[in-house]
Amino acid sequence: RALAPPTGPLVGRRVVVTAGGTREPIDPVRFIGNRSSGKMGTSIAEACARRGARVDLVTTASGLPVPPGVRALHVDTALEMREAVRGLTADADAIVKAAAVADFRPASYHDQKLKKEADGLAEVVLTRNPDILAELGRERGPEGPLLVGFAAETDLEEERGREKLHDKGIDLIVINRVDMADAGFGVDTNRALLLTAQGGRTEVPLTTKSRLAEVLCNELEHLLAERDR
Ligand code: CTP
Ligand code: CA
Repeated sequence: RALAPPTGPLVGRRVVVTAGGTREPIDPVRFIGNRSSGKMGTSIAEACARRGARVDLVTTASGLPVPPGVRALHVDTALEMREAVRGLTADADAIVKAAAVADFRPASYHDQKLKKEADGLAEVVLTRNPDILAELGRERGPEGPLLVGFAAETDLEEERGREKLHDKGIDLIVINRVDMADAGFGVDTNRALLLTAQGGRTEVPLTTKSRLAEVLCNELEHLLAERDR
């Protein structure tokens, strides 16, 4: 079947999206994970592709269907996600980090299943994962990609969001609630606050994740156009 040539406002743009929660293995059976389902990031990838962008989705959510026109790379851990993203950075116009990256991983991996009594399972030692987004923010030059972060919070804390925006050196942050029945992990709806490095502020009241993805795409288009001027 012949594919129609892409059309839309993001034609010619390359977007990298990360989705899902990383899984940090302890042994062949156990891992440290989080509640991210990958729905938000997958919706963003879908929306960008529908607008004509070439989209790479670096995702842990192997159970979610890959949206049409999106190239998916499946990863498990933060270190794998970092490698995948770094491999795509040079050509990217924008990187959207919707993934929930584990802040820590077990310091060592045991290739045999740990026994609960004998092997110190109660004292698994953790080590910090690199902050993928902050690294990108530090390392990008003037020609580097637009960087978008997400902050999962248990309140819509604007000040904390602004701190993350500046500390990570990124262009846009989406603060979203994760502690309510109708927002965040696993559900199809979300509430959010978008903050830009230039002081822009957009509140998005309760909406679907696909609608929030459209709002984010609008903002992305706007920021990309501004950069080209
Ligand atoms: N992030 C990342 N690498 C990490 C941790 C976070 O790239 N090791 C990215 C996430 O993908 C997200 C953004 O940073 O886009 C914010 O993540 P968040 O967990 O809210 O921020 P942290 O800086 O980890 O702060 P904390 O968890 O202490 O609130
Ligand atoms: Ca974190």
